[in-house]
Amino acid sequence: MTPADSDFAAARLRPNRPNTEIPLVGDKQDKAADVQRMFADIAPRYDLLNRVLSLGVDKSWRRAAASEALLLRPARLLDVATGTGDFALELKRRSPHTEVIASDFVPQMLEIGRKKAGSQHLEIHFEEGDALHLPYPDASFESLTCAFGFRNFADYQRGLAEFWRVLKPGGRLVILEFPPPAEGLFGSAFRFYFQHILPRIGAVVSGNGGAYTYLPESVLAFPDPPHLARLMHATGFRVHYRLLSGGIAAIHVGTKS
Ligand SMILES: C[S@@+](CC[C@H](N)C(=O)[O-])C[C@H]1O[C@@H](n2cnc3c(N)ncnc32)[C@H](O)[C@@H]1O
Repeated sequence: MTPADSDFAAARLRPNRPNTEIPLVGDKQDKAADVQRMFADIAPRYDLLNRVLSLGVDKSWRRAAASEALLLRPARLLDVATGTGDFALELKRRSPHTEVIASDFVPQMLEIGRKKAGSQHLEIHFEEGDALHLPYPDASFESLTCAFGFRNFADYQRGLAEFWRVLKPGGRLVILEFPPPAEGLFGSAFRFYFQHILPRIGAVVSGNGGAYTYLPESVLAFPDPPHLARLMHATGFRVHYRLLSGGIAAIHVGTKS
């Protein structure tokens, strides 16, 4: 990480930590245990909240990201930070011949994913694992995906280095994330929704006020799309990205060249 990069992260950190149950935000943070606790707590209501808070648009973002991940018809694909598995399910439905491994470090999220895959008769291997120490040998996968998980990592560079390690040469990395809202009217409106309305709805539906305060804070502290592209490039990936829904979400694609 360059000094400019760490300034970027540091400038966006919360100065004081008002509630120890809410994970810290940004890069190079000691937040893994808090992130695990938070997702274990909201696991039973996570899917419902996703639909409500994104007004259902998250499905179209996942479809767009899945097309990128499946472009080269991968034989083996790893979905990192799979949560309750919605993205892994989309990938397996679209590409039945691909062996899909869905990994996360919160067993409660994985268990819900397992049940959904079972009820939809989709064979997906749900496996516990930390994205920063992936339990797979080098060059194991043709494709690796991470939807709305990367932002939660305690160390972005370490995460990218692990993605690079387990991908085969020529392999494809697809990251779907919420970039910080851009400047301008739309960005301001979205920022207002994100900071003032979403946490209230999230708190009522999930019963966990902290989780949906953390969401906007972690998005505001996340690198903007060109910055994430630079981090991926610095790891060695050939990178392109595109914005979705006026910049609410972004897909970054990296190729291990
Ligand atoms: C917002 S959810 C996204 C879940 C899913 N990919 C989706 O699109 O709905 C973030 C997930 O990232 C997982 N996560 C965060 N940091 C992780 C890490 N270091 N290793 C593995 N999983 C992690 C959390 O447990 C959580 O399930």
